[in-house]
Amino acid sequence: MNQGMPVPKHLTVNGVRLTYDDLGEGPAVLFVHGFMLDRTLWRDQVRALDGWRRIAPDLRGMGRSEAPERGYRMSVYADDLAALLDALDVERTVLCGLSMGGYVAFEFLRRHRERVAALVVLDARAEADTAERRSSRNDMIARVRDGGTDALTAELAAKFLAENASANARRRLADMMDRSPVAGVVGALEAMRDRPDDTPFLGSIGELPTLLLIGSDDTRTPRASMRAIADAVPAATFGVVPRSGHLPPLENPAEVTDRLRHFLDGLRAPEPSADLRL
Ligand code: MLT
Repeated sequence: MNQGMPVPKHLTVNGVRLTYDDLGEGPAVLFVHGFMLDRTLWRDQVRALDGWRRIAPDLRGMGRSEAPERGYRMSVYADDLAALLDALDVERTVLCGLSMGGYVAFEFLRRHRERVAALVVLDARAEADTAERRSSRNDMIARVRDGGTDALTAELAAKFLAENASANARRRLADMMDRSPVAGVVGALEAMRDRPDDTPFLGSIGELPTLLLIGSDDTRTPRASMRAIADAVPAATFGVVPRSGHLPPLENPAEVTDRLRHFLDGLRAPEPSADLRL
């Protein structure tokens, strides 16, 4: 049940009503979920990371947030998050995004760099969609418009999780997918299809403390893509999360929490660089 979970909160920002969790006190960590997922992806990390203010929204069109019919772009998701931080009186944050949440994190960094104290990216790539992938997005859009989100859920669940994923991970993923409204799923597919190539941007991330993680059995994100991000970001640490497919926070929550805690502790080490300002 919902025991121990924060009570979801709601705010209208940037013209859309967002649902979010906001737990704890301290420097902020903003968690951004991926496609057809929602804030509950981060449930274990949000519960565990004492000493930090953990903010986990449902992106527009996902989970319990409002799902406008149109207007989904990476820039819009990023500006929603900046507006949410404004409303919550958070100036700077550690930014943590998984997969599509990683694409949003790159866009947030491009638009609101001064607000990011450190970056965590899981199971995402910097490259834009290939022509083949764009065509597969268009095919998915057509199927969802015709048959609703059920048309995708079984297929994607099989691709997202490692073969030996727990029953609990499977159930939680199914619940998140079931909550995804058609307009938001179509909008997210369009936004991912049309997103820019972030590869040239990576060089400008510079010395920002960065943690990159990928599930050991992720078949959605090529490991080479994450290694390429690591190679382009001098301050990045790259790690593989064992016993996990595309969704490590769900499939191996304790390991992800430990790695996040270690990274966050490092940000608080004595004499942090002036740029860090948590
Ligand atoms: C996600 O998990 O957010 C998606 O798999 C990302 C993608 O399809 O590119």
